[in-house]
Amino acid sequence: MLNVPVTQAIPDEAVPTWHGEIEKIIVAHCAGCHQQAGSAPFPLTTYEEVSARSAFIEAVVQAGLMPPWLPSDHGLPLRGSRGLSDSQIELVSRWIQGGKPKGAVGLPVERPPVTSPREPDLRVSMQEAWRIPAEGGPNWGRRDRDKRSFVVPMNHNRTLKVSRLMHRSASPQAIHAMTMLADTTGGGRYLDNREEGPGYYMPGDIHDRPSGSLGGSGVGSRSLVLPDGYHWSLPADADLLMQVHFRPTGRAEHLQESVDFWVTDDPASRPLQTLISMVWRVDVPVAETRRLMESWTLPVAVDLVGMTPRANGVVTSLNLNATLPTGERLNLLDIPEYDPHWRMPYMLLEPLRLPAGTQVNSSWVLANTTENPRNPFVPLKPYITARRTGVVAMLLHVATLNQDDQQALMSWHDEMLRSRQRPRRSVKSGLEPSDTSR
Ligand code: HEC
Repeated sequence: MLNVPVTQAIPDEAVPTWHGEIEKIIVAHCAGCHQQAGSAPFPLTTYEEVSARSAFIEAVVQAGLMPPWLPSDHGLPLRGSRGLSDSQIELVSRWIQGGKPKGAVGLPVERPPVTSPREPDLRVSMQEAWRIPAEGGPNWGRRDRDKRSFVVPMNHNRTLKVSRLMHRSASPQAIHAMTMLADTTGGGRYLDNREEGPGYYMPGDIHDRPSGSLGGSGVGSRSLVLPDGYHWSLPADADLLMQVHFRPTGRAEHLQESVDFWVTDDPASRPLQTLISMVWRVDVPVAETRRLMESWTLPVAVDLVGMTPRANGVVTSLNLNATLPTGERLNLLDIPEYDPHWRMPYMLLEPLRLPAGTQVNSSWVLANTTENPRNPFVPLKPYITARRTGVVAMLLHVATLNQDDQQALMSWHDEMLRSRQRPRRSVKSGLEPSDTSR
């Protein structure tokens, strides 16, 4: 073999380097999910791992598929925003096209801590595992079969003020999202007892209380941290209801989720209440697209802390905005291309004061068409369904400014929900809530 020196490609000045620019981008925008035991299928943490998949990475980044981040810049600034700017996308491409130079080692890139700052105050786990089948059947994902709800008795004897929570999963790659509810009605236990084995097939709502009123998690956002001065209230002896969305991975997976809670003792901390903006019943004929809208007006001032959209794959886009009493209009959350796979609660970077008299408006576009790639009803059929807490909904996590207003807000909210839920039609009409089989 001839002893020819290997020609080293000399990095052009314009080509970014791994140590210079790229590692920072990958660590901040990809490695949160792409790490050992993360929710993504392979790690992207080192030069070698990234370099080995660079063509694929360039393709998904250019196409805007990765990192997954649904909200547009038209809404309020959100915590944990992951989107890449155009110039970051361009840098990644230029680095790959330019031969993926490593560059000179600079300061180590700060990596998010893997463990939490302090031990949780309470860890709650499903007592028994449930088995996610290796593969889905022909009805998979249609009639709620990709969700299951679980009841976990809490056995604590005082109301806990939860300021932060973390969802731990036995099979992170098989779990999309989880929403939680503190159930003091016993409704969850009742439903659980009707079925064999752990959990039950049903949306996780109990009566008018929506699943997600105690927060939740999504892929890449297993931890939910409330801003200082706010908490979720977990009443004494409440059951924790977890509604888990999952998907088959090709292997049998165990669903056995745990939630870590951190509590606050701050006497000035204010509890979050959940307001629903929702459309109770939908009816979208075959091959049609409908925009559904809903508005109500806040009776008292609140601080908006976060929002959880709720919609399935029939929904292609959604928007939440507010018209202030001054007439000014504010976009709160805007998702131009919705994908239930990446659903999660969105927390505001800074809570926003909404004065009494603010009109809150939601809209959803539902496409019951074959052009909608996520339509679960293919072959097409009419999408007709109803649900007490809304088929499509937006949960607003808010705190009132004082204790007196809490009760006023809840009474108004109960009344508002009742007025939205029109009485059930008689069975004769053939239209029962959740009947999608016509
Ligand atoms: C919120 C979590 C999350 C973040 C952040 C994330 N990914 Fe992913 N990524 C996933 C998951 C989960 C998959 C598996 C495919 C799926 O679930 O759709 C995936 C798949 C991929 C794939 C394979 C494509 C495919 O269709 O299977 C590539 C390549 C990729 N990611 C690159 C990246 C890059 C580069 C970044 C950062 C710029 C990034 N990802 C950020 C979760 C994430």
